[in-house]
Amino acid sequence: MIERPRRLRANKQIRGLCRETRLSASSLILPLFAKNGSNIKSEIPSLDGQYQYSADRICEGVERSLEAGVDKFLLFGLPDHKDEHGSQAFAYDGIVQRALREIRSRFQDEVYLVTDVCMCEYTSHGHCGILCGHYVDNDRTLEVLARTAVSHARAGADMVAPSDMMDGRVAAIRAALDENGFVNTPVMAYSAKFASTFYGPFRDAAGSAPAFGDRRSYQMDPHNGREAMRECELDVQEGADILMIKPAMPYLDLVRACRDRFDLPVAAYQVSGEYAMIKAAAKAGLIDEYGVMCESAVSIFRAGADILITYFACELADAIRKGDIG
Ligand code: PBG
Repeated sequence: MIERPRRLRANKQIRGLCRETRLSASSLILPLFAKNGSNIKSEIPSLDGQYQYSADRICEGVERSLEAGVDKFLLFGLPDHKDEHGSQAFAYDGIVQRALREIRSRFQDEVYLVTDVCMCEYTSHGHCGILCGHYVDNDRTLEVLARTAVSHARAGADMVAPSDMMDGRVAAIRAALDENGFVNTPVMAYSAKFASTFYGPFRDAAGSAPAFGDRRSYQMDPHNGREAMRECELDVQEGADILMIKPAMPYLDLVRACRDRFDLPVAAYQVSGEYAMIKAAAKAGLIDEYGVMCESAVSIFRAGADILITYFACELADAIRKGDIG
């Protein structure tokens, strides 16, 4: 006899009981932009509702998020001085280092601070590493990335997230952290980071568009899913603690593949373009922002993500608290 399937969605309670995907505010990370200068809190034109803060005001952004229930942050820096070697990336008084010290001294272990480790916001040419002619010199870049990661850990970072896509950077950063006594600082690797057009609004926000060429020699080709798994595998071997797929929605197949194939936690980054599209379409009256935000987050977790990095973190925490998702 073929049994008739019972309806498990008759009301809110049974829908909640039978959900396959659970969301929690503790899985969310909010990107935060720290900018050199003082007394700055300015809305980012390309990212509605997101701000750049100077170090002396960044705690306002943290406080607001804590109230919404988000306590994990991914810090990006906008230095006022860029050079060929990106020296502000690892300077003691670099913008990220100062922001870290400010936040840490005010909130101690109430917050979890992750830093983006990359050179593109700090180099005058806007590429993610040290150049040799028109190409990025992979191995020289590893040295500065490792130095940057250690300087972040020293300034109070709980975890570092290399987003440069150089070969061997997880191993180089792991070794440098260990040598300097940061054996408990995890590395969240941007393992499969695609050369994506969806980063457009971020590059405006961080002033990090490359001055010439593009990032296709080091970021991944969107055609290649198997290669993405190979990148993840290498990061596992090099000692990564968390694997990341980026962007999120256009690459949900890889979030799922990564989840099925590896035992490490999987993070997905819903990037600036994904956020900006939802905001813009809602503004134009084409979609319901709240609904689309909720559904896209649910989809990313359903695909297998354990962690979601998103500019919607605070609004999502709210939706979870209200019981609209989760
Ligand atoms: C730095 C970096 C970028 C993003 C995160 N880290 C930009 C890039 O690679 O061009 C993009 C984040 C977003 O679009 O929200 N390399």
